[in-house]
Amino acid sequence: MLEAAKRLVTPSTRSDVPPFMVMDVMAAAARIEAAGGRVIHMEVGQPAASAPASAIAAAGAALSGPLRYTETLGILSLRARIARHYGERYGVAVDPARVVVTTGSSAAFILAFLALFEPGERVAVAVPGYPPYRHILKALGCEAVLIETTADTRWAITPAMLIAAHRRAPLKGVLVASPANPTGTMMTAQALRDLHAAAAAEGISFISDEIYHGLDYAFPADTGARLSEDVVVVNSFSKYFCMTGWRVGWMMVPQALIRTIDRLQGNLAISVPTLAQIAAEAAFDGLPEMEAVKHGYEENRRILLDGLPKAGLDKMLPVDGAFYLYADVSRFSNDSFDFAKRMLEETHVAATPGVDFDPINGGHFIRFCYAGSAAEMHEAVDRIGRWLQSG
Ligand SMILES: Cc1ncc(COP(=O)(O)O)c(C=O)c1O
Repeated sequence: MLEAAKRLVTPSTRSDVPPFMVMDVMAAAARIEAAGGRVIHMEVGQPAASAPASAIAAAGAALSGPLRYTETLGILSLRARIARHYGERYGVAVDPARVVVTTGSSAAFILAFLALFEPGERVAVAVPGYPPYRHILKALGCEAVLIETTADTRWAITPAMLIAAHRRAPLKGVLVASPANPTGTMMTAQALRDLHAAAAAEGISFISDEIYHGLDYAFPADTGARLSEDVVVVNSFSKYFCMTGWRVGWMMVPQALIRTIDRLQGNLAISVPTLAQIAAEAAFDGLPEMEAVKHGYEENRRILLDGLPKAGLDKMLPVDGAFYLYADVSRFSNDSFDFAKRMLEETHVAATPGVDFDPINGGHFIRFCYAGSAAEMHEAVDRIGRWLQSG
């Protein structure tokens, strides 16, 4: 009976995407905590702070009324507020009609890939990079073309790298993130502009993941919205606005894709959770609160940049933005999963092994998320320093 059922229920090959190795680190951290240990959590990429008070109040007020479906592309006033944000933050005028509210930026990737690419088409993504880009592409039958980045190009895909991959076999799209996960490294405005120009000249669609915008320390992050209306810009309330669990994000799409995305989202989701949309609109009234949270990350970044080299981790990628620091641990290990496991067991500091983000060189790196408190950062540096110096 069981054998017959197994034959009937065979997962598709395209659904065979890898899990996050960090889940194993989290499970080990939970075991330490269950046994009474105190773990400093630097493994999960999310803010410790809550949503802005304005967002929470708006959601609270909305709870007593009916919560119905909204327009498929999002509540009109929220789309208008997001468009206004581009004027205020970047000085770029955006037509609210091109703004689509999504269930986190995660849903925006599914919509963008479905709208832009046929099965089998090739899309360039940077390595190291956020794994779901390649896993979603695979699940949709597309091919993620991994472009290995190095210090030579400041960890960015360059026009030359893009064109070389395109000449090997045509690319249909390229996706960049700045600031990036896992590195926190940003593309300069010029690098973004040059890559977009090269892609546009070859008819390669350009997707810009701007989920960590607002969290830029080294220099201001520029938006793909400035480059061309043909760029698909993806963003979210998850990071800067500390609203990961609310599951609300947005995208800005070329005019020619609005109706396509409307039809896709209508069928896939009907609309984005109404409560989250109401909260998201009010979140824009909480900018001063979110700037204070950002200043906390800035201080954490300073503590790590000062302390980790003294602790023994003196090689890292440019720590420009987001709340990540990607440290080279190759002096100690070529197996970042084992390194992260031992560090957790022996220091109770949890971090993510680079193998999650980079199938090529990830064994040499671990990612620290510095979205916690300053006291935790000091303690983490201290614990890691004593551990590395004792071993
Ligand atoms: C680079 C990047 N893009 C997108 C996402 C997805 O976030 P969400 O779906 O919460 O907007 C994440 C989450 O960690 C991320 O790091």
